[in-house]
Amino acid sequence: MDHSYCRLVLVCSVLALCLGNQGARSQLTVDFYYNTCPQLYAIVQQHVFSAMMVETRMGASLLRLHFHDCFVNGCDGSILLDGDTGEKFALPNLNSVRGFEVIDAIKADLETFCPEVVSCADIVALAASYGVLFSGGPYYDVLLGRRDGLVANQSGANNSLPSPFEPIDSIIQKFNAVGLNTTDVVVLSGAHTIGQARCALFSKRLSNFSATSSVDPTLDATLAASLQSLCAGGDGNQTTALDARSADYFDNHYYQNLLVERGLLSSDQGLFSSPDGVASTKALVQTYSDDGEQFFYDFVWSMLKMGNISPPPGSAGQIRKNCRVVN
Ligand code: HEM
Ligand SMILES: *[C@@H]1O[C@H](CO)[C@@H](O)[C@H](O)[C@H]1NC(C)=O
Ligand SMILES: *[C@@H]1O[C@H](CO)[C@@H](O)[C@H](O)[C@H]1NC(C)=O
Ligand SMILES: *[C@@H]1O[C@H](CO)[C@@H](O)[C@H](O)[C@H]1NC(C)=O
Ligand SMILES: *[C@@H]1O[C@H](CO)[C@@H](O)[C@H](O)[C@H]1NC(C)=O
Ligand SMILES: *[C@@H]1O[C@H](CO)[C@@H](O)[C@H](O)[C@H]1NC(C)=O
Repeated sequence: MDHSYCRLVLVCSVLALCLGNQGARSQLTVDFYYNTCPQLYAIVQQHVFSAMMVETRMGASLLRLHFHDCFVNGCDGSILLDGDTGEKFALPNLNSVRGFEVIDAIKADLETFCPEVVSCADIVALAASYGVLFSGGPYYDVLLGRRDGLVANQSGANNSLPSPFEPIDSIIQKFNAVGLNTTDVVVLSGAHTIGQARCALFSKRLSNFSATSSVDPTLDATLAASLQSLCAGGDGNQTTALDARSADYFDNHYYQNLLVERGLLSSDQGLFSSPDGVASTKALVQTYSDDGEQFFYDFVWSMLKMGNISPPPGSAGQIRKNCRVVN
């Protein structure tokens, strides 16, 4: 325990030194709001905790919200902007991404205690970290000081976010495009140790899969049968756990599932079983399935890298008063 805590502290301070200063933004720091909003941590923590008391899944939803924010024009809160031309209405987000009300409630409190100080992008990053922590995952010091973007880039969201239907090579390319590598793909996919997915995102694996096989041959038969009955009604919005072994608990079962063909999404199982996955990601899946401590350690590092994806140079941004609209 002590040993792993030391490693976490080390990884955070090393990252604070060597990342940052990409594009127009100055370097993120752990103590950015130390003087200007000392209530920040307590407020975010309390809201995430109470939201998860009502619905444990909200921790997972907040983690995904941060990921989908960061991959489009950097971590700039652009996913929060309302309007049907915004990112919320992009294919990967519509009827899918969740947690906006929790962010609104946090922002409302922050505007009382420290008005116009904390960016919406930082709120999302912090909320995601508490979503991980309260699900049993690792603690890490979130780097702060992001500014909120002025544009919600719908075509960017359509094009930059990975789809569960695409091959691993092409998912890796989308991560590379934002400065993340193959290790980050495998490590961050481990976020699917918590949360839910809808039938619409995996039912292709359950029938008419290919000319030679009705069901995806890399899907365990027992799991396939239970998913077939779940999705039989044709309601694409029906949900099930991404990690059926421990749906709400952040652990390395995600990787252990892949070893026995119990990954839910094609993009999950493909990390271990697809030809391009065998070439690039399979060995890492094996590593994290064997060593949960290594997974936690690397997850923290990759989250800090993802949280550091910057907006395009020149977009200086603002501190939004309401996360849904630009000032
Ligand atoms: C590697 C490429 C990835 C693909 C193709 C992918 C795809 C998906 C899909 C299709 C869902 C279900 C959405 C729905 O049912 O509406 C999902 C859920 C989720 N994803 Fe990913 N994802 C990827 C990477 C990530 C990363 C990097 C993170 C965070 C670090 C993440 C965190 C989550 C979480 C926590 C959920 C559950 C959300 C909830 O229950 O509300 N995913 N993902
Ligand atoms: C993004 O994808 C959605 C859903 O496919 C589509 O309706 C929308 O027009 C696309 N937006 C842009 C700007 O390409
Ligand atoms: C939207 O995102 C795309 C990348 O997918 C990028 O090329 C484009 O410059 C972005 N547009 C704006 C207005 O930020
Ligand atoms: C990915 O980047 C990390 C540093 O952030 C490095 O330790 C790791 O070896 C890289 N992985 C690959 C496959 O290049
Ligand atoms: C599956 O394939 C069969 C035979 O090709 C076809 O009759 C049936 O409509 C298909 N089902 C779906 C759900 O596409
Ligand atoms: C899921 O629910 C949304 C919103 O209620 C609805 O618009 C959509 O058509 C449903 N999608 C599927 C695949 O059933």
